[in-house]
Amino acid sequence: MSTLTKLALGAMGQLRPKPAQGNAAARIALPVPGKTGGMPLMEAIAARHSAREFSPRELPPQTLSNLLWAAFGVNRADGGRTAPSAINAQEIDVYVALPSGAYLYDAAANALQLVAGSDLRRVTGYQDFVDDAALDLVYVADHGRMKLVPAASRESYASVAAGAITQNVYLFAAGNGLATVIRAWIDRDAIANALGLGHDHQVLLSQTVGFPKS
Ligand SMILES: Cc1cc2nc3c(=O)[nH]c(=O)nc-3n(C[C@H](O)[C@H](O)[C@H](O)COP(=O)(O)O)c2cc1C
Repeated sequence: MSTLTKLALGAMGQLRPKPAQGNAAARIALPVPGKTGGMPLMEAIAARHSAREFSPRELPPQTLSNLLWAAFGVNRADGGRTAPSAINAQEIDVYVALPSGAYLYDAAANALQLVAGSDLRRVTGYQDFVDDAALDLVYVADHGRMKLVPAASRESYASVAAGAITQNVYLFAAGNGLATVIRAWIDRDAIANALGLGHDHQVLLSQTVGFPKS
């Protein structure tokens, strides 16, 4: 769908998901993430960049698991995560829009929990490439987990926390032959509706990930 069409539909509150491709499993157990190897960190930093042309090819389950773990997985026995959060509130939820449905990443269980049985990719942003890339991540702050943070600081702290996750994704992509771009040009109401979010949830950013267009 073109950007112009999305803008017009968005203005009318009509930017909606497509029917899902295939049957969406209610829960997907992810393979154990690989935590070794890959490109050395300094080389991944040197290669980090935004890309806006994607192949429609899906990510293999192992790559998806590794990506999500790098993004915001559990990396310590005490439940610590791969990205920081103020007072360890861990307020950012990572949603994954796949052709088969939209899922919430359950980091503790290393699983994906279905939240919407439709293809939400095109709703995750105004740019056309988001519709057909392998997946779009959506970063949502749950303000209910930030009660100990002063109210005036919650949005900025959550944005910083989401930014740290997005950079993990950038570095994973750079080190693993994937393309990605973080996006703030999104229709937050359309995404919140499609994901069925509550009042305490704030859609912050989206990030497309996929194989580069060949
Ligand atoms: C907060 C933020 C919002 C952004 N929003 C978008 C966006 O909506 N669409 C897009 O294509 N790129 C977006 N970008 C990516 C920037 O355009 C990109 O990082 C910048 O052009 C520098 O390019 P580089 O990432 O390749 O270094 C965003 C970046 C940031 C940090």
